Amino acid sequence: HRHLLGIGELQPHEIAFLLDEAEQWVAVNRAATKHDDRLAGLTQINAFFENSTRTLLSFEIAGKRLGADTVNMHVAQSSTKKGETLIDTAKTLNAMRADLIVIRHQSSGAVQLIADKVDCPVLNAGDGRHEHPTQGLLDALTIRRRKGRIAGLVVAICGDILHSRVARSNILALTALAAEVRLIGPPTLLPTAIERMGVTCFTDMDAGLDGADVVMMLRLQNERMDGGFIPSAREYRHFWGLTEQRLARAAPDVLVMHPGPMNRGIEIDSAIADDPAVSAVTEQVEMGVAVRMACLDVLTRRRRGVEGWA
Ligand code: CP
Repeated sequence: HRHLLGIGELQPHEIAFLLDEAEQWVAVNRAATKHDDRLAGLTQINAFFENSTRTLLSFEIAGKRLGADTVNMHVAQSSTKKGETLIDTAKTLNAMRADLIVIRHQSSGAVQLIADKVDCPVLNAGDGRHEHPTQGLLDALTIRRRKGRIAGLVVAICGDILHSRVARSNILALTALAAEVRLIGPPTLLPTAIERMGVTCFTDMDAGLDGADVVMMLRLQNERMDGGFIPSAREYRHFWGLTEQRLARAAPDVLVMHPGPMNRGIEIDSAIADDPAVSAVTEQVEMGVAVRMACLDVLTRRRRGVEGWA
């Protein structure tokens, strides 16, 4: 693969390979000196057309720890605000001879459009409702490290599934690695039958949580509702919020995850999110840097004259 646009384009062994590659970077990131410098001389451009804290910073940190010249395009101050098209922006970044371009965009498919126009690897940092592949990988790595395996685990993904690129990438990654995936949420925020991708859907939170090994909570994405039904915060917490009482339905050693940013007191209570015995929220962020280092390394191998992959 030249690009990383979605988990859907990867074979199960390729997903496992990226997770294995990320393991070495977890150890490097925990050391006092974190530099490797194998990407020295390469230029990485991060172009985020949508807000981000975790993904943007971790891609920047990942590139810097690997020695790349990492620059961020500040979209709010860029010529896209003067009406420059996405394709012209892509051609402009390409003319600067970038070696890697990381894109987040509000439109599904925009990252593919850019990938078709440039000569270097493109990494999808989240495009609309489509995919967020490095989130799927970092979540899979977090689960694998905490549980020792992924195959056979019951993973309940709860909340606004319909608008969630995180859910889509996780469903693809976890089903490829043989987990049993359940989706739980309001009927209006669950995918239609045609898009269910081999998972079981629940609208009753207690039923969906029953015996789950991993519970992944999602943010209610008000910015993507397109005028559809939005439950009020109170209604949402009442029916689909993760409370300690509800979590008791899951397996006794349940692992709780959230990609962030969290709406505390709506989809997840702070008592759960802040309990390190149960919650993997900060570990997910840590794994995000390692996974992104692995992806930057692997996708530039051919460019660096190192044997590539697949
Ligand atoms: N999980 C995630 O993508 O977070 P950011 O939007 O802060 O990057």
